[in-house]
Amino acid sequence: MLAVLNIRYVRLGVTDLDAACGFATRIAGLQEVGRLGSRPGSRAAYFRCDSQHHSLVLSEDRDSPQAVGFETADAASLKVEARRLSALGLEPRIGTRDECALRNVSAMLKLDDPSGNRIEIVVPQRDTDAPFVPSRPAGIDGLAHVGLRSTDPARDEAFWTGILGARVSDRVGPAPMLRFDAAHHRVALMQSTRAGIHHVAFQVGTFDDVMRNWYFLKDSAVRVVFGPGREPTSSAVFVYFEGPDGLLFEYSAGAKTIPQGANPHPRHFPNAPRSFCMWGGKPDLTSFNQ
Ligand SMILES: [Fe+2]
Repeated sequence: MLAVLNIRYVRLGVTDLDAACGFATRIAGLQEVGRLGSRPGSRAAYFRCDSQHHSLVLSEDRDSPQAVGFETADAASLKVEARRLSALGLEPRIGTRDECALRNVSAMLKLDDPSGNRIEIVVPQRDTDAPFVPSRPAGIDGLAHVGLRSTDPARDEAFWTGILGARVSDRVGPAPMLRFDAAHHRVALMQSTRAGIHHVAFQVGTFDDVMRNWYFLKDSAVRVVFGPGREPTSSAVFVYFEGPDGLLFEYSAGAKTIPQGANPHPRHFPNAPRSFCMWGGKPDLTSFNQ
């Protein structure tokens, strides 16, 4: 089984890179650390949100699908895993040297989950020594989790747990919240009619950061689509907001942890708004497990 340690990066497609970069820095508070390409339609930009080399890539390249990168430690095992996954009928692919260089990783295995979400298992190169310099004081500590659309959460749960070693922390309706480390969840599957990244959550330090960001988003005329609220599952306080091309982002603080080695029985919450916000808030969008 692949030994996934943590989420490493998210790659998203945008139609207007300059506008998207402005949002990522001036609104979200990330640090832009580099751009590739010069022709509109083939450019990409890299962003940091902690000590890692990068955590977000925005790309104008329509041939570059959305992807979520997960970190593993053993480069040698990736080729062995690729053969094993092929024998299971999956279609893994080892990343080329150029693909690895673009991601600052030394090795990569790509595969899709059964819904069609692109997953990249990578062995990162050394991170930079330079400190993270946020573009505004949003209080971001790093990536918290991603929400992934799933056309069949029960089927996909078997893939994420059986192939990638995820553990189920809780379920909302049919959709599991999956962990790899002590964080309550790093991947939340969201029932949907298609594949895709539903949202990208950045971890902020405190409840105060979430509330400060909420006021900032409102003052900046950014569409807040859910929150502030508190999840009954992870206990995290959150606010969701809309970025360019309809991409959804979230600030999250205070998610509980589950110690490594502990294996509490997953709780099952009904597929209802109260299962996403215990304060009674409702998302201003239809795509929460629908
Ligand atoms: Fe979330």
